[in-house]
Amino acid sequence: MTVYFDNASTTPLLEEVKEEMIRVVKNYFGNPSSIHRFGREAKTLVEEARKTIASGLNASTGEIFFTCGATEGNNMALLASIRDLGVQQIISSPTEHHCITHTLDYIVENNLAEVRFLKVDKSGHIDYDELNTILSESGKKSLVSLMHANNEIGTLHDIERIAGITSQNNALFHCDTAQSMGKYHFDLDTLKVDFLSGSAHKFFGPKGAGFMYIRNENMLKPMLFGGSQERGVRSGTENIYGIAGMSKAYQLAMEEMDQRHEYVQSLKNYFHSRLESELDDIQFNGDPGNQLYNVISASFPASEKSPLMMMNLDIAGISASAGSACSSGVENDSHVLAAIGHDPQRKTVRFSLSHLNTRDEVDYVIKKLKTMTPALHETS
Ligand SMILES: Cc1ncc(COP(=O)(O)O)c(C=O)c1O
Repeated sequence: MTVYFDNASTTPLLEEVKEEMIRVVKNYFGNPSSIHRFGREAKTLVEEARKTIASGLNASTGEIFFTCGATEGNNMALLASIRDLGVQQIISSPTEHHCITHTLDYIVENNLAEVRFLKVDKSGHIDYDELNTILSESGKKSLVSLMHANNEIGTLHDIERIAGITSQNNALFHCDTAQSMGKYHFDLDTLKVDFLSGSAHKFFGPKGAGFMYIRNENMLKPMLFGGSQERGVRSGTENIYGIAGMSKAYQLAMEEMDQRHEYVQSLKNYFHSRLESELDDIQFNGDPGNQLYNVISASFPASEKSPLMMMNLDIAGISASAGSACSSGVENDSHVLAAIGHDPQRKTVRFSLSHLNTRDEVDYVIKKLKTMTPALHETS
C-alpha cells in the first residue's frame, strides 16, 4: 500500500484540474499581452481566473496579482512595503516559514528596517497583548507579518484578532495563508488584511502558480521589472496554464470546502485517537484544539529506531514529513520545533491528510508505526 500523508508539503493535482490544464495547453498559446485574437483569448482566461479568486475572497479584481507562489508574495510584501510604504519596523514570529524568516534576516543584515519577534508559547501561539503593547508603544510605521496556519505544527493564529490590533494601531498586516487558502473562508471586505499570499499547489492546483492580494489603499510597486504585466505590479509573461489550473482548484476548494473540512477533520480525529491510545508516550505538537484540520504533528519517544523512522516510513510506502530539516546529512530540529521548546531527543513526524485519504490508510499507518516505535501497549 502507498499512503500520501504529506499534503502540507504539496497536494496532488485533482482530475478536474488536470483536465482544465490540458484543455488550456491544447487550446491556448497566445501571450496575454498581444492584442490579436490569440492574445485576447489568453488574456480572457487570466482575467476570468482573477475574477474567480477575487470573488472568493470578497476582494476586487484590481487587488489580485498572479505570482509563482507564496514565497514570491511573501518576499514582496515585506520588502516592497519598506520601500514603498515607509515601513520602519516589522513584527513577526519565530515560527514563520523560511520565506519570511530568511527575508527578515536579509532586512536586518541590510539595515532596511527594525525586526521584532513575538514570543510564542509551547503550542506556537503568539501573545496578542505583547503585539498590542509593542505597536501601541512604538511611534514607528509598522508591518505585522504573521501566518494564518503553521506549516509544521498546524497552529492557527487568530487573524481577526491580529487584524483588529493592527487596525487600531495604524499598522499594516501581512498574512501568509499558504497553508489555509482553500481550506477556510476569507472575507477581505471585513478582515482588515493588507497583504495576503496563496499558493496553488497547497490546494490541489499546480506548482509554480500563486497569487498575492494587495489592498488598494496600500498598493505596492513592482519587484520584478519588465513588460508591466499584472497592471505594472509584476512583470513577466503570465503562466496561463498554471493560472487556469489554480483557478479551477480554487473554485473546487470553495465549492467543496465544508465537505472536505468535515471529512478530513473526522479522519484526523480517528488517527489522533488511535495514535494516542495505541502508541506509548506519544505527544502532539501544536494546539490540537486550534489547529489546521489536516495536520497532526506527532512526537515519538527517542529510541534506537527513531533516527530511521522517516526512512522506514518511506520503505513501508508511507510519505510524511520529518519535523526537522536535514542539512549535510545531520538532522536538526526545525526552527519551529525549537521555538516551541520541543525536546530535540524526541522524533517528530508531521502527517498531513486530505479528502483523498481514507480510514484504511490510517489503519495501515498505525499498523506500520507499531513496528517502528518502542513500548507499545498490547492491543487485542
Ligand atoms: C506557510 C508557508 N508559506 C510559504 C510557503 C511557500 O510556498 P511556495 O513554495 O508555493 O512558494 C509554504 C510552502 O511550504 C508554506 O507552507
